[in-house]
Amino acid sequence: MEIVRSGDQLAEAGKTARARGGRLAFVPTMGALHPGHLSLLALAREAAGPNGAVIASIFVNPTQFAPHEDFDAYPRPLERDEELLRSHDCDALFLPAQETIYPADFGSWIYPAGAARGLEGDLRPQFFRGVATVVSRLFALVKPDVAVFGEKDAQQLAVVRQLVRDLALPIEIVGGPIVREADGLAMSSRNVYLTPEERERAASLYAALSRAKTLFEQGERRSTVLRECVTGEIEPVPGIKLQYVQIVDPVTFQPIPRIRSEGVVALAAKLGKTRLIDNLRLGS
Ligand code: PAJ
Repeated sequence: MEIVRSGDQLAEAGKTARARGGRLAFVPTMGALHPGHLSLLALAREAAGPNGAVIASIFVNPTQFAPHEDFDAYPRPLERDEELLRSHDCDALFLPAQETIYPADFGSWIYPAGAARGLEGDLRPQFFRGVATVVSRLFALVKPDVAVFGEKDAQQLAVVRQLVRDLALPIEIVGGPIVREADGLAMSSRNVYLTPEERERAASLYAALSRAKTLFEQGERRSTVLRECVTGEIEPVPGIKLQYVQIVDPVTFQPIPRIRSEGVVALAAKLGKTRLIDNLRLGS
């Protein structure tokens, strides 16, 4: 696996993939890799085609963290990450320096609206500006044909799809299903922050989403009822503070009063100091 730090080396990686007649598939991450990230690599390999190449990036993007958030504490097990990528058939790893992404004279920020409104956009007002800006900068440097993002961060995926549409970027966006622990907890680099007790309680988030799915499958379409089902499951669990539960449209990520064909139940909760998000798609 090639470790790439500069734009010139990146151009080479892309050229090699295209010269072989394949596509360059890209998986952006902030590292502290787990099976959720690795599942995206497998999807990237598939999307790249037999002659294509897969490139991942690790960059803990400071601009998507608020000053009180966990930028400094965010886990950075770089050697382990490199080993995982190597053993999962990744062709190149882009490890940009801070100045490569944000040169001293950087000044073009992207303020997404649309799918970035509400939910995470309300609770983390800086978040989608940071994500949209870093993702467009990474896209401009890596120049992938296809990029893979997880449905774990479903609103982020909707914002990236919108970014690509709005800026007419020639990049295909692929969404990867959420990879979960045996008890249903969505895998996340932040799960390491949970105490053993919090870790046990965290399973109730998925249990609650699954109850809403069962209700939906029994014919319930009203968002108020589906939301109440989720809050009713989680609120009695000690030590969990729900921040939001919403039923949203999968494309616009705006709340809908009832589900016509498809919806997403999205939630955020705090367990002690740790903030977790999860979601489940309802319909088709
Ligand atoms: P990070 O949290 O490292 O996640 C990188 C990618 O892995 C994202 O697309 C995320 O949705 C996906 N992912 C995380 N956990 C997953 C799981 N359990 N199952 C499936 N996919 C999962 O998301 C970011 O980094 C950053 O915001 C980034 C896009 C890199 C921009 O800085």
